[in-house]
Amino acid sequence: MRKRIGILTSGGDCPGLNCVIRAVVSHATLTYDWEILGIPYATQGLLERQAIALNLHGWDLRGIDPLLNMGGTILGTINKGDTLTHVDDILAGYKALALDALIAIGGDGSLGIINQLANQGNWNLVAIPKTIDNDVAMTERAIGFDTAVNTIVDALNRLTFTAASHDRVMIVEVMGRTAGHLALHAGIAGGADVILIPEVNYTIKGLCQHIAELRDRWKRKFAIVVVAEGAKLCMEDMCNTTDTTSPIPISSPKCGIGQYVAERIALLNDDIIDTRVSVLGHIQRGGIPSALDRLTATVFGKAAVDLVAQGQFGKMLAWQYGEVVPVPISEAVAQSPLHVDPQGYLVQSARSLGIYVGE
Ligand code: F6P
Repeated sequence: MRKRIGILTSGGDCPGLNCVIRAVVSHATLTYDWEILGIPYATQGLLERQAIALNLHGWDLRGIDPLLNMGGTILGTINKGDTLTHVDDILAGYKALALDALIAIGGDGSLGIINQLANQGNWNLVAIPKTIDNDVAMTERAIGFDTAVNTIVDALNRLTFTAASHDRVMIVEVMGRTAGHLALHAGIAGGADVILIPEVNYTIKGLCQHIAELRDRWKRKFAIVVVAEGAKLCMEDMCNTTDTTSPIPISSPKCGIGQYVAERIALLNDDIIDTRVSVLGHIQRGGIPSALDRLTATVFGKAAVDLVAQGQFGKMLAWQYGEVVPVPISEAVAQSPLHVDPQGYLVQSARSLGIYVGE
């Protein structure tokens, strides 16, 4: 009998999700002649028994397929919600839609929830990792990361010229609540002078000494500071508080870590250093997917369909050493979020290149 496969996107959106949908529909239709149902708003769609038939080249009246270069997700997504209080209804939704399998694209949080539901409901689940944070374990790549890195690098290029023109210290706050991959990768690629990430402690004194050395010894009169939103308080403040994890500044509880770092730099330098803060926010989640994200999304989508065909369920696609391989979802989720290794190659390289990364 013709198989009926559901596909959903869950957690925060990112560029490349539509590329996965496109690849799944193409391969499932052309190779296997299966029916593909898009489930809107992740588990919410299952709860409400909603499904949209997805057809090859059905996206546009002229046969143009815009999914390859379209950001976001045509299916919609949720990254909050009371999924676990509606377990029975969601499980019943999967049954009511008569799905033979479900392909879920998500980050570690949402994949964890969907995997839990799949275990309870005996679903045939295949997962695909996506997140601009790149912190899903067991895979070197998650969809969306590369585009977000490029977006930040583009912002750093622009900010560098204005910072240099005014001899300013430009603080750029980027996403990454628990892991600093985004800040580290984009900071190195974008020519940052300072990179602050959740995994490495730093001092404002050390940061300012570095900026002073750049200015006095190397005649670089401006500086670019990339700070991940989840970076912790500086060591100086940690010594003055019992809360060592909160990124919320002591002086201005309502502002983010970027503003906090700017205030601390100004305070330590009697306001002589001119600072400005740019919070890139959700700009990092939008936009046209990069070539690498399109490629990753396309091969993950194709491989997911093949796993369904082979009856290999409970698996997440992972990119390892240039190959796409299936790994157990439960193991990947258990080891996530994957943190930056403070002793790792990238952190050490950044330091060798004259970037202050803390400690
Ligand atoms: O997990 C991905 C992520 O982009 C984080 O880096 C960021 O902190 C969070 O999502 C933002 O989520 P929201 O869209 O709910 O503001």
